[in-house]
Amino acid sequence: MKKALYPGTFDPITLGHIDIISRAVHLFDEVTIAIATSETKTPLFPLEERIRQIELIFQGNKNIRTIGFTGLVVDLAKKEGVNILLRGLRAVSDFEYEFQLANMNRAMSPDLESVFLTPKAKFSFLSSTLVREIASMGGKLSSFVDPIVEEALRKRFQD
Ligand code: COA
Repeated sequence: MKKALYPGTFDPITLGHIDIISRAVHLFDEVTIAIATSETKTPLFPLEERIRQIELIFQGNKNIRTIGFTGLVVDLAKKEGVNILLRGLRAVSDFEYEFQLANMNRAMSPDLESVFLTPKAKFSFLSSTLVREIASMGGKLSSFVDPIVEEALRKRFQD
């Protein structure tokens, strides 16, 4: 069984991330979305809420799992018995960081392969930070996030 681990902060998950996941399910038998606590990024949504949002979005998709994690992604991959790390590349500007991450992970875990997928061009400018900023200013988000996330952001900034 071909399994892939898709780690990230997902604060929140965007249509760009969802685009990557929808491509990955055609390539792998199981895709595990691994949500990092990423405390240094001081996320808007607590880990439990990010897990819940993503579980709701992919509910019914038996080959997509959602888990939270703290610590190193290489340790998580070992624990989960996965040797493919999936990451998205939106633009050339992502490359340097991803290259560094992939090589650091390889240095720590030589058998772990990083695989990169690109989202549709219309999502290449999208980021969770911009989504949070638009939400905080009451902007329209339906082209950028799933309705479940849109509602969560609306609640967060209106209540
Ligand atoms: N569509 C839209 N946005 C995307 C995207 C896509 N397809 N792919 C990436 N992004 C954006 C995210 O929205 C995020 O935006 P933001 O910075 O504005 O919030 C940004 O790209 C990067 O986010 P993400 O993909 O979630 O990665 P990250 O840098 O937050 O997290 C981890 C990277 C969690 C995988 C990495 O830090 C990690 O592995 N942490 C665990 C600890 C560890 O092992 N450290 C050692 C690593 S060598």
